[in-house]
Formats: sequence, structure tokens, C-alpha cells
Amino acid sequence: MILVFKKKQLFWLSPKSCRQYRSQIKIVTTDVHYGSLADGEKVLGLLGSRCELKGKKILEVGCGWAENCIALAKWGAECTGIDIAPYNIKEARKLATAEKVNVRLLVSNAVNLRELPDNYFDTVISSYTLGFVGDIQAAFRAINRVLKKNGKFIFCLRHPAQIPGKVNRFFFPEQPPNEQWVENNYTINQIVIYLTKFGFYVHDIVPQRTKNPSKLTIPRMEKFPYRLTGKLDPKFDCLSRLPHTIIYCCRKIKSFKPRKKPTKLQSVSPAKKATRKRRLVAA
Ligand SMILES: C[S@@+](CC[C@H](N)C(=O)[O-])C[C@H]1O[C@@H](n2cnc3c(N)ncnc32)[C@H](O)[C@@H]1O
Repeated sequence: MILVFKKKQLFWLSPKSCRQYRSQIKIVTTDVHYGSLADGEKVLGLLGSRCELKGKKILEVGCGWAENCIALAKWGAECTGIDIAPYNIKEARKLATAEKVNVRLLVSNAVNLRELPDNYFDTVISSYTLGFVGDIQAAFRAINRVLKKNGKFIFCLRHPAQIPGKVNRFFFPEQPPNEQWVENNYTINQIVIYLTKFGFYVHDIVPQRTKNPSKLTIPRMEKFPYRLTGKLDPKFDCLSRLPHTIIYCCRKIKSFKPRKKPTKLQSVSPAKKATRKRRLVAA
């Protein structure tokens, strides 16, 4: 089988790139994170109480090394993590084994989630992934398919104000531009329109509220489930006014069914149809 990947996905398919990203961050396995230096699930409580999470079928799209899945498994959820990068899934399996939790981990593409069944998950989460998939609308359609009706879909993206161009200068400030790191910049309006089109109801949009991050001391930084290693550049202080992360909280309210193209007969006007019928009868 020959796999063809678009240039946008090449970055994540290289183990070297995945390691480069991982070397600059630290994510805990005791909380669900919603992006760098942002409050996590323990503070925000977007997924429900611990009791509600017990036995819930949860999917993480673009799980990376599966820290979120591991935290949710520790809280009693039945977790599945998918990622397009085989290297990340290998590392995620190692981490889940080391943490002694049971998480189902698969290599899969968010744009079709081909390996997963319809109407199966109670909740779908995704952190910092959907900005990287080639076709976010296809991903929303696939997530609608695998989610049960009324299921929760909670995901975070980098805030559109933080993605100035193709190159992520927050994660790679000293390095030459890596043109393969392509993070799409969608406006909030676009995201809400796509979500609505694919059968979701957006009930909340949560911005990040971190104050003066470059002045955070190590112990204060450690209260965030996703933090950056090394000293923070003062430009991070713009996060006080421009949030780094934006979280969308949605529910699936209907299954997405593509509109059928009209058949030749359906596209004929009723007057023409009547004339054709008369001709047939006369013949
Ligand atoms: C910025 S990382 C975030 C990973 C993890 N959620 C975290 O917070 O560390 C983006 C992740 O998206 C994955 N990814 C990119 N495109 C994808 C796709 N089309 N389908 C599934 N995963 C994808 C990458 O392999 C990578 O693990």
C-alpha cells in the first residue's frame, strides 16, 4: 500500500520533528490540558465530574503521547487515543504501560477516523491538533460520525491572534523557520460556522486567562498541566491581553448527512415533468 501525505502533514510524520516539539514542553498525566500555560480540566471542569467520567467512552484526536488519555483513564474513563504519527503512538504506548493504565492507541487520520465505529463515543476531545489537520471540515464530519447523539466535543486550538504566519515562532523562536510546521489560522467565526454545518451546537467558548507568563516562577508555572521548558520570552506577556488558547465546547445535536445531489429527474421542473408524462401517454 502506498501512503500519500500532503506537505502539511510531513512535520508530524518525522520522529525528529515530534522529538523537537516534545523537547520544549512538559505535560502532566494527572490532568487534562487545554494548551500551554492554560488552566486544565481540574480547574475548568468542562468534561463533567469524576463520577460522570467513570466508564465513559472518550476519544482523543491527535493524542501525541497520550497524557490526556492517561489522566482520563486514571479517572475511570474508557479512553481511545489516535494520532497520525506512528512515532507518537509508539511513545504513547510506552507511557501508558509505565503509568499502568489501559488506553487504546491507534494510528489514524483525523480527517476520516476510518478505524473507528459510528455513534460510539460519549465524548471527543482534542488539544492543539485540529489546526494541523489538512482539512478541518473533514475532521469535524468524521468526529460527528463517531460521536453519539448529544455527545460532548471539547477541543482547543491556538487562538487565531497567536498564529501570525506559517511558522510557529513561540515553539521554535531561535530556529530557522520550519516551513513544514503549518498551523492553519481559522477565525472564531469560521470555526463556529463549520461546527454548525457538521451538526454541532457550540455552547461555550473559553479563552485563556494567564497573567504575565514571562514573570511566572517555576512553582507557579507548575500548576499548569501543559508548560514550556526553559525561560519564557517576555513576548509571552502578550498572553495577558491576547489569549494563547481558545477552547470550544460543543455537543452533537444531529448526525451530519451530506445533501444528495438531485437526480436528473428531480432537477426537471414540475411543468416539464407533466409535459413529458403527457407525451408518454399520447405515444
Ligand atoms: C501540537 S501536537 C499536540 C499533541 C497533543 N495533543 C499535545 O497536546 O501534546 C499536534 C498533534 O497532532 C497530530 N496530528 C497532526 N495531523 C493529524 C491528523 N491529520 N490526524 C491525527 N493526528 C494529527 C500530530 O501528530 C501531533 O501529535
